[in-house]
Amino acid sequence: MVSRVIPVDPFDLVIFGGTGDLARRKILPGLYRRFSSGQMPETAQIIAAARSEMDDAGYRQMISDAIDEFGGDMDKSQVSAFLAKLSYVCVDAKGTSGWNDLVSKMRDGVVRAFYFSVAPSLFGDLAERLHSHGIASADSRIVVEKPFGRDLATAKELNGVLAKHFNEDQIYRIDHYLGKETVQNLMAVRFGNMLFEPLWNAQYIDHIQITVAETVGVGGRGSYYDKSGAMRDMVQNHLMQLLCLIAMEPPAKFDPDAVRDEKLKVIRALDPVQPHHIVRGQYSGSDDQQGYRDHVESPRSRTESYVAMKTHISNWRWAGTPFYLRTGKRLRARTSEIAVVFKETPHSIFGPEAGSHRNALVIRLQPDEGITMDVTIKEPGPGGMRLIDVPLDMTFAEALGPDVEDVPDAYERLIMDVIRGNQTLFMRGDEVEAAWAWTDPIINGWEARNDVPKPYDSGSAGPDDALMLMHRDGRKWREVR
Ligand code: BG6
Repeated sequence: MVSRVIPVDPFDLVIFGGTGDLARRKILPGLYRRFSSGQMPETAQIIAAARSEMDDAGYRQMISDAIDEFGGDMDKSQVSAFLAKLSYVCVDAKGTSGWNDLVSKMRDGVVRAFYFSVAPSLFGDLAERLHSHGIASADSRIVVEKPFGRDLATAKELNGVLAKHFNEDQIYRIDHYLGKETVQNLMAVRFGNMLFEPLWNAQYIDHIQITVAETVGVGGRGSYYDKSGAMRDMVQNHLMQLLCLIAMEPPAKFDPDAVRDEKLKVIRALDPVQPHHIVRGQYSGSDDQQGYRDHVESPRSRTESYVAMKTHISNWRWAGTPFYLRTGKRLRARTSEIAVVFKETPHSIFGPEAGSHRNALVIRLQPDEGITMDVTIKEPGPGGMRLIDVPLDMTFAEALGPDVEDVPDAYERLIMDVIRGNQTLFMRGDEVEAAWAWTDPIINGWEARNDVPKPYDSGSAGPDDALMLMHRDGRKWREVR
């Protein structure tokens, strides 16, 4: 029941950093899947650009191996047809070599997109050279990845560097969470159903909890992660985007600026987080498992691999409804979900012995994407009116059948949106800056206080203090499982 695949317009896609980890793991295998699904036109051209000396054959071999490893099911004849679309140029982002080769490959009359899958320190050089070689035209697009800065000042600097040569409507800032099928479903559930919207406010909703729990540790990414931490790596972008989608006002239409204007208003209405409303954690090691500090250079690192916090949105819809956010690595289970927990009924006709019950709408982003609604019913059997909560469970894979497995993953969808020229699922410059403006005081506060994260066991639900954050308010986190 998946909708028909509509091919995108012919394009030249240049991937700077085409030999890097992201290109091999996500971008190229994703493009291959879009090719094999019929979404890529016959005339599409993908040009990888990087510093290493390599020829087309060497690059195709590299990507054939990557598709083998990360591409999922594949059809060998399709793979070779896809590889034929790839070529490679050796380009020096900071120098002059290779740029004329790139110029000679670009065609007129097709969409041009440039993916900057490189360190942000190279964004300015690339933008400058694309411009000076006349490669980028007024309708060319550039794609940039997170981290988009490490604070407000650096994000502004990057926005400034890109703005020298590109208009905002040419810049596609990726937050891959926005490309996830279920994240878009959040908008469908909210704005495609009459059922929820009248209840979607502080009058009926007790609180909202957003959890992004991972089982992986920082592994080989220690040197990047230790300078970043969960706040910069996950909260400032992915969790903030989820919060925006769940809390924003209905946009007038599903178009890029209408949606992004509403998200921006949410970020700007966020209250500063009080220090006692935030808990940082760091996973510790055990006899048979390495801890966070074994994965990074500094044995005394104070970087957090876990954050839990309570925040409020100061506007008419949400005043009084707390939002609890948490994310962490090396937790008990990999699970991402948003739980909208409703208030209790104003009066229980069943008396105090029926206990307290709250409906909860839970949107599971991954794994087992779906929606559950906890509904209170009578416990079956004799013995009077005892109430229990049971979930009405809609797992999309069951409800929609096996086709649901074929939906594009986040990167595939987002790259196709770049070619289509649709920025709805990309972050605008002012959104990113507003998110940093909210995050900076939290991080600066930790630094000023020399805050040390609480240790937590690998495989647990995070530090105990995070449980207390909710308990103090008479609430509790949903289980991480
Ligand atoms: C990335 C973070 O943006 O998102 C990683 O840098 C994190 O640290 C990842 O593991 C999580 O993405 P997903 O799609 O696996 O939930």
